[in-house]
Amino acid sequence: MTTIPQHVTIIMDGNGRWARRQGKQRLFGHKEGVESVRACLEFAVEKGIRYLSIFAFSEENWNRPQEEVSGLMELMFKSVLKERKTFQDNNVRFRVVGDLRKLSKGLLDAIHALEAETAGNTGTTLIVMLSYSGKWDIVQAAQRYADEALAAREAGREAAPLTEARFADYLSTAGIPEPDLMIRTSGEQRISNYMLWQCAYTEFYFTDVLWPDFRKKEFAAALQAFSERDRRYGKIK
Ligand code: FPP
Repeated sequence: MTTIPQHVTIIMDGNGRWARRQGKQRLFGHKEGVESVRACLEFAVEKGIRYLSIFAFSEENWNRPQEEVSGLMELMFKSVLKERKTFQDNNVRFRVVGDLRKLSKGLLDAIHALEAETAGNTGTTLIVMLSYSGKWDIVQAAQRYADEALAAREAGREAAPLTEARFADYLSTAGIPEPDLMIRTSGEQRISNYMLWQCAYTEFYFTDVLWPDFRKKEFAAALQAFSERDRRYGKIK
């Protein structure tokens, strides 16, 4: 029997290498990567995984060649428009998390429309981490808390003391449970400035499979490995 994690997060890596192996442009790999997103979302729905988050674009990815950045943004835009029915048919709630100020108005409008349209869906939540980085998230949370504490003091009140739980409410992922399982494809074994706070007790699963080849069978293998882990959270059982 496999234990189903409540939240699975994926660092989708290896699209460029996958494309190069076929003698194709990098964007070809990203396009095939969208098919893997669809397969993994379907699998998450089938298995009753409550939250599936995917690292679609990091803060650092803005430094890639302009052609690749705009190609990826266009791919996101097209996918957001194209997948509306998939989300509704599967009772999937769609959310995007990250520093969205850098996105084009067109993409942002499409994202907000899909978020609103699927807000009442009660099945799996798909969270696309876009223009996201772990350090950015912690800094923006600290800044927001500091701003509120200052405003409270100016109004003659004392800010509520900072606790771990309260700090988490300022993160961009507030309200979303911390990931139980983080999967990274393509053989790289690092966290790459991803959910640094949120992955404090997450189980990591690394596979050499490149993201465009990561489909239901590979996802099932990751879940199997997860269910064999012994999670102790620093305690003794
Ligand atoms: C990493 O591979 C992948 C990305 C930076 C982009 C991932 C984005 C998608 C699959 C599109 C997501 C679309 C939607 C609709 C959410 P890489 O380019 O770093 O590969 P490499 O390490 O082999 O060069």
